[in-house]
Amino acid sequence: MDKLLINGPCKLNGSVEISKAKNAYLPIMCGVLLTKESIRLQKVPALRDINTMNSLLSQLGIKIEKEGRDIIYTADSITSQEATYDLVKTMRASITVLGPLLARFHHAKVSLPGGCAIGSRPVNLHLENLAKLGAEINIESGYVEAKTNGLKGAHLVLDFPSVGATENLMMAATLAEGTTIMENCALEPEVSDLAYFLKALGANISGIGTKTITIEGVAELGGCDYEAIGDRIEAATYVLAGLMTNSEITVTGFKPAHIEFILEKLVAAGAKLEIGDDFVKTKASILKGLKLDTAPYPGFPTDVQAQIIALCTQIPGASVITENIFENRFMHIPELKRLGAQISLKGKSAFIEGGNPLKAAPIMCTDLRASAALVLTALCAEGETEIQRIYHLDRGYEKLDEKFSSLGAKIQRVK
Ligand code: EPZ
Repeated sequence: MDKLLINGPCKLNGSVEISKAKNAYLPIMCGVLLTKESIRLQKVPALRDINTMNSLLSQLGIKIEKEGRDIIYTADSITSQEATYDLVKTMRASITVLGPLLARFHHAKVSLPGGCAIGSRPVNLHLENLAKLGAEINIESGYVEAKTNGLKGAHLVLDFPSVGATENLMMAATLAEGTTIMENCALEPEVSDLAYFLKALGANISGIGTKTITIEGVAELGGCDYEAIGDRIEAATYVLAGLMTNSEITVTGFKPAHIEFILEKLVAAGAKLEIGDDFVKTKASILKGLKLDTAPYPGFPTDVQAQIIALCTQIPGASVITENIFENRFMHIPELKRLGAQISLKGKSAFIEGGNPLKAAPIMCTDLRASAALVLTALCAEGETEIQRIYHLDRGYEKLDEKFSSLGAKIQRVK
């Protein structure tokens, strides 16, 4: 298994171009099931999760053609409506094939995602609301089987603004008969990006970017070319790298408005940032301790929680970070403590006493975003840190070692 060797502490310089958003392309890739016409997705990032989703789609019989960084999908002759456990168990986002399969083929059999490192990851909100759209849902031997004589529009109210449930239901409703009104929708930019993609296919959607989305079902959808938004989580990770190493770097290729909450909190804590329409430039800053709670968008994203804790290890004084979205998303903390970070856990909150110098040590990735926190902290630790199990990183960070090398970090990927 590959690992990363990172020599710290280091200074960074130059600029880094952010890749297109994994969490926008994953549901959009499920959306190709909704039409028999060809769809070209542009500048698709080379990530493990993208490969997993491509394996799942080809298992269903979708034609997949790669042209440079573009991928062309054609779902005109689906051979199966079953997403098997061997693929779904590695990536929970596979559950979002359920809505499109049901809407277009009136049948779907999808393995339950099962838990993952960060939590039990239930799908009750997906299933309850698909049933309201006219699906007959059966769960047995670890699979969800859904059937319908044809989905019908309904008035849905999500108990929680679940990203995946909003995406699954929005896709199902595009081909349902009549009007679907969805309330308490997730507001994450990736959800809006999916909605714009569906509109490009000819779906009739209004209220995009608000808590209430209205969809008029259509008989069939066409094709389109589509380029997703920049990855706001990757972008936030690099902005934090610039601040943690007291460097001047420019992070481009994404919308800073998509991480407005984080940028505001960092500036309020003393961060010197130049914020443009499509870039953020970091400058050496003296930061005060942070007190942040993760929340649904536009609040502090849970996907940046681990990376913010890494930052707090570099801020002299006390910080408190509370995780409200997932029940087990602090696995990076024992690894950071191996580098000498002073962090204690109490319930859903991590208490960080930052500012003491950290020392390199061998550490291990546990999940995607935790892995990013380990990389950021290794950049600041004295000596050579070895980071193992970096296949977690490969799920969501395209060419991370190359991007950090081009910023001047002493980072090496070794077999
Ligand atoms: C999406 O996961 C993202 N994944 C996650 O990013 C992200 O952490 C999460 O949204 C929250 O922003 C993708 O977009 C592929 P949720 P999702 O449904 O859709 C509970 C990463 O690092 N819930 O909004 O699974 C759930 O248990 C990944 O790229 C139910 O209870 O998130 C969790 O506590 C990790 N019942 C909360 O809602 C349901 O039916 C948020 O889940 C669905 C969710």
